[in-house]
Amino acid sequence: MNIPPKKEHPKEKTRLHPRNRHRERYDFKALIANCPELAPFVTRNIYDDESVDFFNPDAVKMLNTALLKTYYDIDFWDIPPGYLCPPIPGRADYIHHIADVLSQYAFGKAPSGPKIKCLDIGVRANCIYPIIGHKEYGWSFVGTDIDPVAIGAAEKIVALNPVLKGNVELRLQPNPASIFEGIIARDEYFDVTICNPPFHSSPGDAEAGTLRKLSNLTQGKVTSPVLNFGGNSNELWCEGGEKHFIGNMILQSKAYATSCFIFSTLVSKQSNLKMVYAELSHAGAIDVKTIPMGQGNKSSRLVAWTYLKPLQQKLWVKSRWQG
Ligand SMILES: C[S@@+](CC[C@H](N)C(=O)[O-])C[C@H]1O[C@@H](n2cnc3c(N)ncnc32)[C@H](O)[C@@H]1O
Repeated sequence: MNIPPKKEHPKEKTRLHPRNRHRERYDFKALIANCPELAPFVTRNIYDDESVDFFNPDAVKMLNTALLKTYYDIDFWDIPPGYLCPPIPGRADYIHHIADVLSQYAFGKAPSGPKIKCLDIGVRANCIYPIIGHKEYGWSFVGTDIDPVAIGAAEKIVALNPVLKGNVELRLQPNPASIFEGIIARDEYFDVTICNPPFHSSPGDAEAGTLRKLSNLTQGKVTSPVLNFGGNSNELWCEGGEKHFIGNMILQSKAYATSCFIFSTLVSKQSNLKMVYAELSHAGAIDVKTIPMGQGNKSSRLVAWTYLKPLQQKLWVKSRWQG
C-alpha cells in the first residue's frame, strides 16, 4: 500500500479560544499514561499520525474519557449507549468565550469560584459543560434536561467525581415546552445561562445531519449512521428545530430578566441570526453580543444578552462577584 506523504499539521488550532487546552494535537502518549484503556484504540492513520477511529463509538468514548481524566480531573465518565459523545475542544470553547463575556462586566477578569452560578439548559447525559466550567473557573452549575435517563447518567458522573460533588446539581424539566419555568426558583439567581440547543426539526433530519458530519470527517460518502459524536435522535431534534427552541428561550427569558445576568445560547445556523436578533429586540434585551466560534470546517457562534440596565449590572457585579 502507498503511504501518502506525511501531513503537515499547524502547531496550534488557532480557531480555538486562546485558553482552550486543546489547541495542540492530542498527545496520545500522555493520554495513554493517564488512561491505559485508550491504548488499544490508538492506531496510525494513513498519514502515519497517531489517531483513533472516529467511526468507532467505543474509541471516541475512550478518547473523551482520557481527555476528561487528563485535563479535567474526571475519574469516572460514562454515557448510556447511543447518547451524545461531545467533541470536548468545541465545548470548552463555549465556556471560555462566555467567561470572556462575563469578564467584560468585571474589569476584564472572568469571575470565578462556586459563588458564580451557571445554568446549563440541556445538560444531557455527558454533563460536559459543568465538567469544563467547574474545572476552568470553579463555577457551580445547575444542569437541566427533559430526559430522565440523561439526568440519571449525569447524576452518576457527579456522584462519582469528588471534584463535582456539591458543585453540580441536576434538575429534570418536566415540560419540554418550558426552559426556565419549573427550574429557577423565585429567590434563585444565576450569573449566566448556557445552552447547546437541539438542532434539527425531525428525527430524519437529525440522522441526515449525522451522516453529513461523518461524510465530512472522511471526506467521503457514508450511508448508514454510526453514533460516535452523533447522539441519539431525541437529543438532536425538537419540534421546529434550533430556530423554534431559541425563539422560545428568548421569549421565556424575559420573565427571568432579573433572575439571570447573562443569558446565552449557541446558534449553529447563521440564517437563524436574523430571527434571534428580532426576538431579542422585541423582548427588550440590551447588550446583545455575538461571538463567532469555529472548529475544523464547522463554524458556529454564541449569542449572549442581558435585560439588566447598566446600574443594575454594576449592583449585580458588586453584590455577587466582588467581596
Ligand atoms: C444537543 S443536546 C446538548 C447536550 C450537551 N449540552 C452537549 O453540548 O453535548 C440538547 C439537549 O437539550 C435537551 N432539551 C430539549 N428540550 C429541553 C428543555 N425544554 N429543557 C431542557 N433541556 C431540553 C435535550 O434532551 C438534549 O439533551
